[in-house]
Amino acid sequence: RPHRWRLRHHPVCRRGKKVMIIILDGWGEQIPDDFNSINVAPTPTMDALKKTAPDRWRLVRAHGLSVGLPSDEDMGNSEVGHNALGAGRIFTQGAGLVDQALATGKLYEGAGFKYISSAFAQNTLHLMGLLSDGGVHSRLDQLLLLMKGCAERGAKRIRVHILLDGRDVAPGSAPKYIDILEKEFVDIRNMGCDACIASGGGRMAVTMDRYENDWGVVKIGWDAQVRGEAPHKFATAMEALKNLKEANPKLDDQYFPPFVIVGPDGNAEGPILDNDAVVSFNFRADRMVMAAKAFDLEEFDKFDRGVMPKIKYAGMLQYDADIELPKHYLVTPPLIEKTSGEYLVHNYVKSWACSETVKFGHVTFVWNGNRSGMFSSSLEKYVEIPSNKGIPFNDNPEMKAIAIAEKARDALLSGKFDHVRVNIANGDMVGHTGDFKATISACEAVDRAVKIMLDAVEEVKGIFLITADHGNAEDMVKRNAKTGEPILNSAGEPEVLTSHTCNPVPCIIGGPGLPKGVKFRTDLPNAGLANVAATFINFHGFEAPWDYEPTLIEYKED
Ligand code: 3PG
Ligand code: CO
Repeated sequence: RPHRWRLRHHPVCRRGKKVMIIILDGWGEQIPDDFNSINVAPTPTMDALKKTAPDRWRLVRAHGLSVGLPSDEDMGNSEVGHNALGAGRIFTQGAGLVDQALATGKLYEGAGFKYISSAFAQNTLHLMGLLSDGGVHSRLDQLLLLMKGCAERGAKRIRVHILLDGRDVAPGSAPKYIDILEKEFVDIRNMGCDACIASGGGRMAVTMDRYENDWGVVKIGWDAQVRGEAPHKFATAMEALKNLKEANPKLDDQYFPPFVIVGPDGNAEGPILDNDAVVSFNFRADRMVMAAKAFDLEEFDKFDRGVMPKIKYAGMLQYDADIELPKHYLVTPPLIEKTSGEYLVHNYVKSWACSETVKFGHVTFVWNGNRSGMFSSSLEKYVEIPSNKGIPFNDNPEMKAIAIAEKARDALLSGKFDHVRVNIANGDMVGHTGDFKATISACEAVDRAVKIMLDAVEEVKGIFLITADHGNAEDMVKRNAKTGEPILNSAGEPEVLTSHTCNPVPCIIGGPGLPKGVKFRTDLPNAGLANVAATFINFHGFEAPWDYEPTLIEYKED
């Protein structure tokens, strides 16, 4: 069909209604027991909305195949969740694309691989990224395959710069992944390739900052990886973990300071030198964009890189196709075009989007299909509320929820915008700390924020849609898959869950502007996040584009 941007009018929903879209990050649905922070927290506003089920409250799928992940074993995450919410369709995401490229060998045929492999014979190949099987930013099995594939294709020296996880996987699990990697090195060495870990650090402290919250995080990673400089030096990564943990028993994997691995002579094992190849093996963009800029850009002023080595750098994926970052990459990212934001602009709907720094790109960059910038600076406005810096999220569970809600309220009441969209980060960011008490406070703050925004919807006689991008805060413990009972550790305490979940998330509609008789249809029991875009496009008075996943609503005259 020839593509048309102008959308047909919806038969029931009228144009011009004010629509508030609220994304509660990390807010899933789970049995209401004592380990569900949302259940334990006082959340009167969200509780009241639940009573409108099934007409205006339902669950949607937010994990696995429903959001383009390789399998239904994969928990949801913010990138794939917001991609699906904003684009209204399901795309095979980075994780699956890398799997395919490795399985078919296509990865080794592309221009990106040719570029880095020209360094293999004489120089070192550095692989840098998140070391776990969380499947959110990277996957260990992909790293191992890539390492082997490079060794088979002539790499003579490989240095791995690891970032410890404990956020998408169990806290304290880092040694397990290091052990698997070290074992793989034995095979790689037998292939005539000298391979070892060169540096490391926890993902939240080193390199994997996002949305320019704190360039210092990227800088200390740079110093360790590129210059071989860090306050801590050890002979092996295992020794680093053991010593740093002994010095600070409360240290979680995600917050480990940077360390450098040194040889018997005390020199760093793998600084990045002229003519070396460097690959960041994360497929997910948000937390690699900043490091990719440091590695890829000639002009760079975010921190002092020192003497910049002349390297051949490639990303596992291209992290931002609009600005071509990085220029070289091993796997082509999903092409997520014709997103809801672009349609709204073409149909003269005025949008306003906001979150705090740590989630700002989720409702803008990721929502728009991993595109930086705007579709129209006259029809769109993006507002970023600076996140608190340097305070652990569990010491600050309210984060900026109320500030975002008040800004959204003001945007709606100003009458200048038809579409007001926010991401409230607390359930996710505090949930990731594994601190149960703090996560309860986080959920309470989220509920208060929702109330502020719904009151504004009431005032302008608008429509609201509340949903989440994936689960997190609703489950703080690891559970037995069959019984659902918490798994206990050796001390008899439930094992802490810091990661996201595979739970569905609520989707709630309402507000005085919602035409009478509009309710959730019942013929889409397996609907997911990708069905949400068609739904809010309807609320703006339009039929959704023909290729979007179907709307969640129907119209029934009573
Ligand atoms: C992170 O990057 O913080 C986690 O790996 C995933 O969280 P998010 O998908 O909610 O951003
Ligand atoms: Co998260």
